[in-house]
Amino acid sequence: MKKTAAVGIVLAALSGVRAAAPVNYTQHYTWKNVRTGASGGFVTGIVFSPKQKGVAYARTDIGGLYRLNSDDSWAPLQDYVNNTLWNEHGVDAVALDPNDASRVYIAAGIYTNSWDPYNGKIMSSTDYGKTWSRANFPFKFGGNMAGRQMGERLAVDPNKGSILYFGARSGNGLWKSSDYGKTWAKVTSYTAVGTHIVDPGDSGQNGDIIGLTFIAFDSTSSAAGTASKRIFVGTADSSATVYMSEDSGATWSAISGQPTGFLSHTGKYSPTEKALYVSYVDNANTYGGGDGYVYKYYVESKTWVKILDDNGTGFGFGGLTLDPQKNGTVMVTTYHQWWPDGNIYRSLDGGATWTTIWDFDWSGVQPPVKRRYDWDISQATWLPEITGDKTTGWMMGSIAINPFDSDHFLYGTGATIFGSHKLTNWDKNEKFTLSSLSYGMEETAVLGLTSPPQGPHLLSVVGDVGGWRHDNLDVAPSKAFLTPSWGTTRSIDHAGSRPNIVVRSGDGEGGLALSNDTGATWHIHASAGSWNGGRAQLSSNGDFVVWAVNNGLYVSANEYPFEKVPNIPSGSYTTANDRNHNGLFYAAENSNFYVSTNAGTTYTKKTSSIGYIREIGVNPFRAGDVWIATDTGIWHSIDSGNTISRVGPATDAYHVQLGKSATSNGYPAIFAAATIQGWAGHYRSDDGGYTWTLISDDSNGFGTPGNNIYAADPRTYGRIYIGTNGRGTFYGDASATSPVPTAADAYGQCGGQGFNGPKACPHGYTCKVSNAYYSQCL
Ligand SMILES: *[C@@H]1O[C@H](CO)[C@@H](O)[C@H](O)[C@H]1NC(C)=O
Ligand SMILES: *[C@@H]1O[C@H](CO)[C@@H](O)[C@H](O)[C@H]1NC(C)=O
Ligand SMILES: *[C@@H]1O[C@H](CO)[C@@H](O)[C@H](O)[C@H]1NC(C)=O
Ligand SMILES: *[C@@H]1O[C@H](CO)[C@@H](O)[C@H](O)[C@H]1NC(C)=O
Ligand SMILES: *[C@@H]1O[C@H](CO)[C@@H](O)[C@H](O)[C@H]1NC(C)=O
Repeated sequence: MKKTAAVGIVLAALSGVRAAAPVNYTQHYTWKNVRTGASGGFVTGIVFSPKQKGVAYARTDIGGLYRLNSDDSWAPLQDYVNNTLWNEHGVDAVALDPNDASRVYIAAGIYTNSWDPYNGKIMSSTDYGKTWSRANFPFKFGGNMAGRQMGERLAVDPNKGSILYFGARSGNGLWKSSDYGKTWAKVTSYTAVGTHIVDPGDSGQNGDIIGLTFIAFDSTSSAAGTASKRIFVGTADSSATVYMSEDSGATWSAISGQPTGFLSHTGKYSPTEKALYVSYVDNANTYGGGDGYVYKYYVESKTWVKILDDNGTGFGFGGLTLDPQKNGTVMVTTYHQWWPDGNIYRSLDGGATWTTIWDFDWSGVQPPVKRRYDWDISQATWLPEITGDKTTGWMMGSIAINPFDSDHFLYGTGATIFGSHKLTNWDKNEKFTLSSLSYGMEETAVLGLTSPPQGPHLLSVVGDVGGWRHDNLDVAPSKAFLTPSWGTTRSIDHAGSRPNIVVRSGDGEGGLALSNDTGATWHIHASAGSWNGGRAQLSSNGDFVVWAVNNGLYVSANEYPFEKVPNIPSGSYTTANDRNHNGLFYAAENSNFYVSTNAGTTYTKKTSSIGYIREIGVNPFRAGDVWIATDTGIWHSIDSGNTISRVGPATDAYHVQLGKSATSNGYPAIFAAATIQGWAGHYRSDDGGYTWTLISDDSNGFGTPGNNIYAADPRTYGRIYIGTNGRGTFYGDASATSPVPTAADAYGQCGGQGFNGPKACPHGYTCKVSNAYYSQCL
């Protein structure tokens, strides 16, 4: 069962004002996503503009909003999200103005529990999502909470675009804006706030009131320019789940005669049929539950008609879409049909009769399905390694037919968007192509990155969908890591002096694997045993694996059994191994920093007074040169941790990693996620950590640094890889040579007649004159 990872959230100190030197703010970085070719995460909602052809948006639970491009790819709209605004990557609803295609609204906020310290916002854009203004709410929203694919719980009145309704979670009820989303007030006449909680004992994503599920307007209930009279509201409450107002929201009541027992999931109004279609599911659990039906409510005769029933077979119904160009054409997705595959129902006669995208066929090979489609995954050929024999998908909570093109439809799954441009072949009993169409959406929660000095520049591992060897950063890899293939994969590392040797650890059987061809092929570590997950790292020669797992630190040599490091307390360890000195290992737990010089047989505590340790970074080019990011700043040692001192102006740091230097004889480029003179951002230093260049900017924020993963490229100066929690991996390149001072390398030349290189020495070294022609960092 696949699901989008929920990764713990940590916040850095908030920003102050930008300072003068030692920070240089002027260098431009070019940031691009490392391509995997598919979202890799849950696409929770898809909406098309009924006003302008080709305008469509997709929302995700942890990676923000995307707009559809004309070539079927998607453009991210929220990459500005940084530490301060990170909860805006959880999009709980999206709404378009049916009469003004440039206007788009989202309900932003990721968790209603303590994982998200910020309240929700309704964000409004009048330029197709390029820029936003925000209305702050006094409570939280839940873009990554249970029921996140229900909806849409935000909608614009089709007769008067200044009016919006929003159905909140957590018992906060119905809210209304009459000024295009600028200000909001609670609709006090609406009192059914929902009672359904997936798991009342849960403190995570399942423990809160789902609240309202959808808002739908009857566009025929008033004239253009006046507020629609008839409004429907879905509520996650199985005793009455669909409410209606016929006086523009002044009064509300549960619609009489409605089915009870299940929750409304999606509601869509058909103006030509004068009927509301509603899909139902018994439970808002994102990954389970499952029973349901689809009903239609005719507003004139006030009757409910059941048009589809899963007969208790256990999947329920999720996404529902109408084709506004074809009266009576409706499609519904099964929501929890995990076996043999998710299904899609299509009716051309308002639900009287249905056909399915696949039918059972017990005569052939497994899985027992006969499909109406040819499957096209050319954009992400690795998908089947994750999806197995499922081709339609899972967690299919949203589906949308293009209102301008009856042949075009899209639906979201837990790993991509599928869709077709030949949908009406279905009705001719001809096959159509069902393609993975989420190119441009990179929605993974990245958990590990490594950049070896030869072979591919990057290997990455992520939550839910495994990991890849990136032979070309701009081209989707043809396959994911295989044999073993885990969903959530937690760590990856290469051996410093034998970079063809790679280790990765993941959640699943034989949770530790080794490769000796830089990730092309793998075998399970002979002594992995029954443990899995954790974080694994290799010694420089690749013969030792250090595994921080099971609340301890374990070392194995040459695949012999793991031995617990005896002389350190149990806890959650951050580790790094020297890339040049085999058997020189570093580990940190809380504020304790340990060094092992005997390949992990024993560790010696070197300090516990440099702050809470978040990451250890090693100089890939020199033994014993180690950097430490803590909540008090950036610390450095040139003697494998025997003496450690704070370097530079950072007052708080999450990451520190070293890559290729700016000059041939220079100190490595240092990258850090840090707060420097009050400004939390991503920085680079070329002079050994004294002065820093800000490399993140207002368009590239990378979310919260506590959830970033760092790797610096040892072959390309200036290149840093930043993994995010929901927007995949980015790589950044400096647009020009470093504008800031550089330092010579340790033992390098730093002066002398005719010498034009850097004259400063890195921390721990001084420039000493040998003779008139040569000074050296010693
Ligand atoms: C749509 O179909 C319904 C029957 O389902 C019919 O009563 C109605 O007249 C049709 N409307 C239009 C505009 O074709
Ligand atoms: C549920 O049962 C009805 C009546 O037998 C049948 O028409 C319908 O196709 C069944 N639904 C599904 C999803 O199989
Ligand atoms: C590389 O790994 C494969 C198994 O994955 C193994 O058969 C082979 O012996 C290894 N080669 C070396 C040189 O270790
Ligand atoms: C975060 O992004 C917002 C909007 O772009 C910006 O105003 C704020 O200064 C940024 N904060 C930091 C620390 O970069
Ligand atoms: C920052 O970089 C710019 C552009 O290269 C350069 O002109 C300027 O002198 C630098 N500022 C500082 C404080 O180093």
